[in-house]
Amino acid sequence: MSMAQVDYDGLIPNNVALGQDVRVKRALEKWHPGYIDWWMDMGPEGFQTALVYLRTAIGVDPKGWAKFDYVKMPEYRWGVLLAPPREERKIAFGSHKGEDAWQEVPGEYRAMLRRLIVIQGDTEPASVEQQRHLGMTAPSLYDMRNLFQVNVEEGRHLWAMVYLLQKYFGTDGREEAEALLQRRSGDPDTPRMLGAFNEKTPDWLSFFMFTYFTDRDGKMQLEALAQSGFDPLSRTCRFMLTEEAHHMFVGETGVTRIVQRTCEAMKQAGISDPHEIDKVRKLGVIDLPAIQKKANMHFSLTLDLFGNEISTNAANAFHAGLKGRYREDRLEDDHQLESGTYPVLRLIDEKIQNEDASALSALNMRLRDDYVVDCNIGVGRWNKVIAEHGIPFEIKLPHVAFHRHIGEFSRTNADVDGNILSPAEWTKRRTEMLPSSSDRDFIESLMKPEFTPGKFAGWIAPPRVGIDNKPGDFEYVKIADA
Ligand SMILES: [Fe+2]
Ligand SMILES: [Fe+2]
Repeated sequence: MSMAQVDYDGLIPNNVALGQDVRVKRALEKWHPGYIDWWMDMGPEGFQTALVYLRTAIGVDPKGWAKFDYVKMPEYRWGVLLAPPREERKIAFGSHKGEDAWQEVPGEYRAMLRRLIVIQGDTEPASVEQQRHLGMTAPSLYDMRNLFQVNVEEGRHLWAMVYLLQKYFGTDGREEAEALLQRRSGDPDTPRMLGAFNEKTPDWLSFFMFTYFTDRDGKMQLEALAQSGFDPLSRTCRFMLTEEAHHMFVGETGVTRIVQRTCEAMKQAGISDPHEIDKVRKLGVIDLPAIQKKANMHFSLTLDLFGNEISTNAANAFHAGLKGRYREDRLEDDHQLESGTYPVLRLIDEKIQNEDASALSALNMRLRDDYVVDCNIGVGRWNKVIAEHGIPFEIKLPHVAFHRHIGEFSRTNADVDGNILSPAEWTKRRTEMLPSSSDRDFIESLMKPEFTPGKFAGWIAPPRVGIDNKPGDFEYVKIADA
């Protein structure tokens, strides 16, 4: 069987010859019922028996790896899929640079590697939990389907990490795989591991911002792990990135469509000042300043996921050859970073300023910088839509020091332009920059379901094209079967 094909005969579709790997096959089959219990408990609420037009991976060939069909979500074929191996792959960075990539876990780095896999794994089910109530208020069947597509694929990403734990980490891998099903987003006693994954996703604007900003952190992490000298992790992440692209597409186009609808409605009503919030809201669309505040919140929460600007963990993982830089293979330097510096934005004498740090210890900062560049691309597209309508407003990413809970700037209060505020000023100005309770109430008031095929809630424009080239009135979710 070629690597690009997936074995669909057993309980767990896979391209890792699971049929010949009895121990791991049994371990995964034992884990499966707990996973399904978790999905029924914490997966999309109210739609577990609906027929959803989903794509399922049937191969790992970049051209034509998925097929589309109606599926009930609990019957989705979650599988273990690795990108094809690259022949004679070498470790591309760190102290082992030039050695053969590892096919087994290097003993000296076992704990570090397991932790990287567990942290990545923990984010996958967390986002499903965060988004589980959204189906009920979907602005269209098209959007509902996209939500569920993202959800089932995050479930598959959990499978991807659990496979690595079960196959390569023995008893403690099995324990970690269990624990991934036990933690719950936002639970005070057993929360998910990272802050942004314990926040609520209360409405669809938040969902689109989350998939735009937070799934993009996922992309950056996966890109860095795809460089790993531990080959199974690299191959796993490479295939996950194929799926991840759709999640960010959902976020980017979702926000674009909201912005578009707002601009259209403003123009129609002859409102040219985007700050006439009451007038805009009366039209039943989301004002641009509220969209900006949501972006501020999701961007700042996501920056926290990159960890401390100066980090020995990041340095160690790179030095060990476990986690590289963003697209390490396209960078031109010595890939070891034993010497050299990188400018790091820090809080020095209550001022935000650059300071050179050793390139190795500044790797989190570097990944975060790459992330910000990537984020700005879509923001530019949102602004193009606003400009096309002649409305004087520009969505801007806030300063990286704004509203932070981890790293250098967690010790201070900065505004969106990076000016340091006193605690009193921060409290006073907070709702200029982050959603206020009245912003949240207004957005929530718009969250009424629109389940008629081809129809869209009034606050969001229809997409330009359908999924899988389906026509505008295609029934992406058959709820009647629920
Ligand atoms: Fe994911
Ligand atoms: Fe994702």
